[in-house]
This record gives sequence, structure tokens and C-alpha cells, in this order.
Amino acid sequence: KMEQTFIMIKPDGVQRGLVGEIIGRFEKKGFYLKGLKLISVDRSFAEKHYADLSAKPFFNGLVEYIISGPVVAMIWEGKNVVTTGRKIIGATNPAESAPGTIRGDFGIDIGRNVIHGSDSVESARKEIALWFPECPVNWQSSLH
Ligand code: CMP
Repeated sequence: KMEQTFIMIKPDGVQRGLVGEIIGRFEKKGFYLKGLKLISVDRSFAEKHYADLSAKPFFNGLVEYIISGPVVAMIWEGKNVVTTGRKIIGATNPAESAPGTIRGDFGIDIGRNVIHGSDSVESARKEIALWFPECPVNWQSSLH
């Protein structure tokens, strides 16, 4: 099924120079880059992105981390890109992410895990709307 997903390279991934490597993995898999920007977000924006996690004990630390430097926000499109994108990224906890995945290859800390990818088509729709408000709903209409 043709889908779009939201992928974000987190501040540690940008600072460590992993942007090209990460984009290359999605490109070589065959996905299409449909939106990209380097952006620093403020606290209220980060809290909106992670609103579902506001009750978690790590919420404040997570927000501090996301606002600590610029991130690369992207829209990727392709067949089953939500699920397959999460496979390319690997498990949330880098201690459990397989070698060959982005987190498996480049991280050891769950609180500094390099990259985010939407966990469902519905989350992708919300996250793309939040991060790319300038690209109004040609999401769906552009899918073939
Ligand atoms: P992400 O895919 O962006 O979705 C939620 C984020 O919360 C996750 O990646 C991690 O960065 C963070 N996270 C999840 N569990 C923990 C935890 N136990 N401690 C710190 N951060 C966490």
C-alpha cells in the first residue's frame, strides 16, 4: 500500500554527522523523499509532537533532548513505508535493535536514539501535518 511517513533525525544524529548515511539508507531501499528541512523546534512544539508520552517519567528529558539542537524533519513515501521504515530504524531501545538497523548500528542509549519514525499511518498523518503545515493535504492526493 502506498503511504507516507514522518522521519526525524534527532539532534544527536545531526551532531554526529549521520544525516547523509540515514538519507542514503531510505533512498537505497527505494523510498521517495517528499519533504525535508533542518529545523530547531521550541519546547511547546516538541511537547506537541510527543503529546502521547506526556505522562511518561522520561517526558521532560525527551523534550529537552529534542530541543537541544537542530533536527532533520522528512516526509518519505513508498509501499508500506510506515512499517518498513520502522524496520530500517530498528527497535526503540538500542540494546535490542539489530545490527544492520540505524539504531542497531549507531546508538547505545535509549534516550539518544538518533532517529524517530511514525508508528502508524494515523500518527504519520498527524506528524506530517504538525511538521509540514506548509504542505497542505496533498498527502493522500499525491499517492498512487
Ligand atoms: P521515538 O521513536 O522518538 O518515540 C518516543 C521516544 O521516547 C523514543 O523514540 C525514545 O527516544 C524515547 N524513549 C522511549 N523510552 C524511553 C526511556 N525508557 N527512557 C528515555 N527515553 C525513552
